[in-house]
Amino acid sequence: MVISIIPAFLLSSTFLSLVSAYSFTISTPRQCQNLTVSVTGEDGEPPYRLLLLPFGPSPLPDNVEVRQIEDIPFGAGETVLSFPLRYPDRSQFVVVVSDGAGFGTGGTSVVTAVLPNDDGAGVCFDPSTNVSPSFAFSLNPPNQIVQCTPTRLWWDNTTVQGIPSFLGVIPGGRSFVVPEGPITDVPSQGTGFSWTPSVRAGTTLVIVGGDDRGVGSGGSLVTIVSAGVRPNEDCLDDDSPSSTPGSPAGPPTSTGSA
Ligand SMILES: *[C@@H]1O[C@H](CO)[C@@H](O)[C@H](O)[C@H]1NC(C)=O
Ligand SMILES: *[C@@H]1O[C@H](CO)[C@@H](O)[C@H](O)[C@H]1NC(C)=O
Repeated sequence: MVISIIPAFLLSSTFLSLVSAYSFTISTPRQCQNLTVSVTGEDGEPPYRLLLLPFGPSPLPDNVEVRQIEDIPFGAGETVLSFPLRYPDRSQFVVVVSDGAGFGTGGTSVVTAVLPNDDGAGVCFDPSTNVSPSFAFSLNPPNQIVQCTPTRLWWDNTTVQGIPSFLGVIPGGRSFVVPEGPITDVPSQGTGFSWTPSVRAGTTLVIVGGDDRGVGSGGSLVTIVSAGVRPNEDCLDDDSPSSTPGSPAGPPTSTGSA
């Protein structure tokens, strides 16, 4: 094990810089009942925010997608947030907690499943109507993210409001803001920028797009970061995000949003 050769003092300081000083817990998620998210620890900087992100396929007939990406602020000075979970039983989601110091500082949950409701709340969504993002974005090379290899994130500039921004969400791992390089126009690859993901191969990564209409207005794409034909580790260091092995994963899919 690599760990055994790292001096203990180094290990502990690395650990402190990697692990957020505050964390959170969530209540049992049930369809159309309130989900309660509680910040724990004293070291967060209010205001807190929650990103609620659908994960995996829809369990509804015909795969109708009713789950919206939601970016929900906690009340001023509050450390507890309660809101109706408008996701169907048997669907899955991930939450990310952030504070005034930045995105994802409180951590990212593992993929979590929604249970049936137990209070007769019934259905709080229209199971026959798909939600769809306000704009779409794409990757080039298509549908893949390769460790340490430049990829282009692009969109149709006529469909966005303002300049899009993107988040990288790693279930059970460390989520981050995708650094945005110079924005250029490329024939057949629309408007976009190049990004070299310093994320380890094998990581389940959800890329969430947003513009002036809000976080998630561009929907999301799920990929498993691949090593590529000639694996390149030049961009990785001990801080590079990864996910724990065994996280639920699947082929690239998209999920809906407001
Ligand atoms: C559910 O959350 C809403 C706020 O989003 C709150 O007004 C309501 O009182 C909560 N209901 C319960 C039963 O906790
Ligand atoms: C995108 O569109 C906006 C407004 O229509 C324009 O100001 C901007 O220059 C365009 N960006 C690029 C890279 O074409």
